[in-house]
Amino acid sequence: MSNTTTNYIGKPASRVDGRAKVTGEAKYAAEFPAPGLTYGVVVSSAVAKGTITKIDTAAALSLPGVLQVFTHQNRPGLAWFDKKYQDEDAPPGTPFRPLYDEKILFSQQPIALVVADNFEVARYAASLVEITYETEPHITSIKNRLHEAYTPKEYKSAEPSPRGDAEKGLAQAEITHEAEYSHPSEHHNPMEMHASTVVLAEDGTLTVYDKTQGVQNSQNYITQVFGLAKEQVQVISPFVGGAFGSGLRPQYQLFLAVMAALELKRSVRVVLTRQQMFSFGHRPATIQHLVLGSTSQGALTAVVHEGFAETSRFEDYTENLVNWSAMLYKCDNVQLAHKLIQMDAYTPLDMRAPGGVTGLYALECAMDELAYKLDKDPLELRLTNYTNIDLSKDNPFSSKELKACYQQGAEKFGWAKRNPQPRSMREGKTLIGYGLATGAWEVNQQKSSAKAVLSPDGQLKVTSATADIGTGTYTIMTQIAAETLGLPLANVTFKLGDTALPQAPLQGGSWTAASVGSAVKAACEGIQEKLLAHIRNLKEGPLAGVQKLEEVLFADGKIILKSNPAQHMLLPEVMRLAGENFIEATVTTKPELRQKKYSMFSHSAVFVEVLVDEDFGTIRVTRVVSAIAGGRIINPKTARSQILGGIVWGMGMALEEESVMDQPYGRFINHDLAEYHVPVNADIHDLEVIFVEEDDDIVNPLGVKGLGEIGIVGTAAAIANAVYHATGKRVRDLPITLDKLM
Ligand code: MOS
Repeated sequence: MSNTTTNYIGKPASRVDGRAKVTGEAKYAAEFPAPGLTYGVVVSSAVAKGTITKIDTAAALSLPGVLQVFTHQNRPGLAWFDKKYQDEDAPPGTPFRPLYDEKILFSQQPIALVVADNFEVARYAASLVEITYETEPHITSIKNRLHEAYTPKEYKSAEPSPRGDAEKGLAQAEITHEAEYSHPSEHHNPMEMHASTVVLAEDGTLTVYDKTQGVQNSQNYITQVFGLAKEQVQVISPFVGGAFGSGLRPQYQLFLAVMAALELKRSVRVVLTRQQMFSFGHRPATIQHLVLGSTSQGALTAVVHEGFAETSRFEDYTENLVNWSAMLYKCDNVQLAHKLIQMDAYTPLDMRAPGGVTGLYALECAMDELAYKLDKDPLELRLTNYTNIDLSKDNPFSSKELKACYQQGAEKFGWAKRNPQPRSMREGKTLIGYGLATGAWEVNQQKSSAKAVLSPDGQLKVTSATADIGTGTYTIMTQIAAETLGLPLANVTFKLGDTALPQAPLQGGSWTAASVGSAVKAACEGIQEKLLAHIRNLKEGPLAGVQKLEEVLFADGKIILKSNPAQHMLLPEVMRLAGENFIEATVTTKPELRQKKYSMFSHSAVFVEVLVDEDFGTIRVTRVVSAIAGGRIINPKTARSQILGGIVWGMGMALEEESVMDQPYGRFINHDLAEYHVPVNADIHDLEVIFVEEDDDIVNPLGVKGLGEIGIVGTAAAIANAVYHATGKRVRDLPITLDKLM
């Protein structure tokens, strides 16, 4: 940024949408009004597998106000039911098609939609729909079924890439560690339920307010599935009350609401219940087998990481589960496998740091166990095996300040005070444990577009069809634009979440800052160029004679001559002299080719203190220090919030979260927030986030790496390791509840 100052980037600006959110001005998908709106309520299958033999909708239909009950028997014939369409985040296979036929593929499958002119009637009517099933035996656990595991034909993300000869590496090892680590299915549980409000205009066009991480993905889905043109469907999603991956795929309420609107020629809203939020997509349960071999000095000679994960009967869901074991440490012999086991349940779905948070949980616990066998400090063991080359690709890292994370994190935490012996630190009946783990997450830049429009009053409007799922996108895009054109923050507005805006990728993968941020920066640079073209024509005035952008500075709302800062012009002055009412630029950015020669990751070192009650086995996480190497930090305030959210969720993963499958019924039994436990305020004590300096001019023009996911990675393993240090008992199956500890 040679011709801008850093007035905004790197500063802790408060959320530009904060006021709208706390005053209720911010509208969510289920809150948009429409004249004559009708309400759809979903009827869910009570069984996990089988066939619907009868649906009796007479009682429901007889209620005054009920407009229709849609089932597989009366739903419209759609081309989609015969031809394959996969959304942007679909794994290989056949996506679930609601009301397709009488087959039940998973418990809580939507099997009817009751539509009425008021919500209460629709809900009551839904309870009157009588369904008769012929059930079939279902399988809803991967335990004891590793023999059924298969290698998928296609991996959605990185395919396991082994190297060297792990068998030989193990034969050379002086010390080995072998163990199995597992965790259950977990659900996203955003505050906002999945919802779609479909507003039908008189001309038949649809305006759809959808809870989604990508309006264009929802629009493509609707046009493909219902055979509509893009011009007939606008999808809008200005605010999202959390998603964490659950909004990466269009969910079935969108299909049902659009179908009902088109059939009934009415506007329709469908909102899922909290219970129904457990009916689509979740973090897949895994069982992971780890074998580590090392020299007596702790240098790794072999890493074997085999992961077994659940998937559905209709899609092969994979995520990057095991490849971390090939890139994180120096080791010549790595053997990997990632296999799937089918269950009679919905396809798993990306959930914050998919694969990373689970694969690294296993690897980082295994490293901890190896450290004890070696009688070596777990931090020392990581440093012994540190690498500046990603050996899985033989690429240098674009930047890797992980060592600084270890050093600064350890210093802040007081790691040196740790007594290496397990169960050696206590205060009375309280056992104290220190644990650490490493985290890593991929850095990605996706093709993105943005448009910037400068008006004569000096106001800048920037737009892109991206989303803000709570991460702070509105705020950081405003900062990037303000910085690039040197305008006050208050002069800049950023608009998102509308298919009418320039194309943007799904908000996911921690790539929005890098992707959309680069497009926003480039669009504002486009404005700079256009202003310069006008300045070049100036025969007189403070900027006469300026030929190149490098000669000026954009700051304080002005264009300033670098060689003599007393000479400057306001942006609108240049426009007026040029006779321009608006200056606009639309730019598409994509990753540069040179990125291919590098491996790009963010890293973290997480240090945790736990207190364990010796008698009751209750665990409190009293201190967490998370040191993050995430490239350039656009906004330390929103950045810190992202990491804090990740840490808290990591605590949930380690100690509380479990979607409990009721095997006889094949359904998640704790499908509400009363019984699906997540950390509450009383669970949270001292959390500290450190951002280490990390310069990276390879990743993208902004040097940002993305922070949405790295905060959760590593946290669960660090807690598990601290619990072992406190108690001397190793629990390898998450969550670590007190019954497992006693
Ligand atoms: Mo994230 S799981 O890519 O929303």
